[in-house]
Amino acid sequence: MFITFEGLDFCGKSTQVKLLENYLKEKNKNVIVIREPGGTAISEQIRKILLDRINDSMKNETELLLFAASRAQLVHEIILPYLQKKYYVISDRFHDSSIAYQAFGRNLQLEFVIQLQKFVIGNAIPDITFFIDIPVEEVLNRMSKVKNIELDRIETSPDGITLRKIQFYERVRNGYLYLCERESRIKKIDGLLSIEEIHNIIIKYLESVK
Ligand code: TYD
Repeated sequence: MFITFEGLDFCGKSTQVKLLENYLKEKNKNVIVIREPGGTAISEQIRKILLDRINDSMKNETELLLFAASRAQLVHEIILPYLQKKYYVISDRFHDSSIAYQAFGRNLQLEFVIQLQKFVIGNAIPDITFFIDIPVEEVLNRMSKVKNIELDRIETSPDGITLRKIQFYERVRNGYLYLCERESRIKKIDGLLSIEEIHNIIIKYLESVK
């Protein structure tokens, strides 16, 4: 089974990925966890280029294609082989991130971004996607508690806590909400609930669809 987690930066999905991994392993399931961008030696190198703040001149088109390249490698090297071996494959972000961030957030052409994802992921379509939804104010609130140095290129562009940044995250969130309406595989969860409440919703949902 292929499960992906999505949401705005600081929505708490990485914590939930870890909790789900532990839960499935306790049930003696074979589980592999990956993160995007990254997850293979080649994809981790692309991740460095994408997230390093030194690359602040990166164009939106370049960004889209690098995410796609990283993802293509991950699909063919890891995701498809492990799905064939009947593993639970859990990914911290996947193609919905490109639709939300690059198409909606960066204003790249939606139809093209969707077609590109189809080319990149082929049959590796997630069975379930958990979208952990938090309001944009909460992103900025959580971001302000992190040391600036720890933020990556995408989190720092547009610069600072500006109106442009709020608008960027509003567009990304609208992208996710657009996807939620169209894709029945996406389960939206209120990200303001406690860590434990969110984990329980995820477990219950998984048990109900098995
Ligand atoms: P990372 O630190 O891995 O994510 P998170 O903040 O979720 O822990 O950084 C990933 C950044 O890349 C994040 O800001 C979202 C962005 N991103 C895209 O813009 N498009 C994509 O396709 C993916 C996978 C990520």
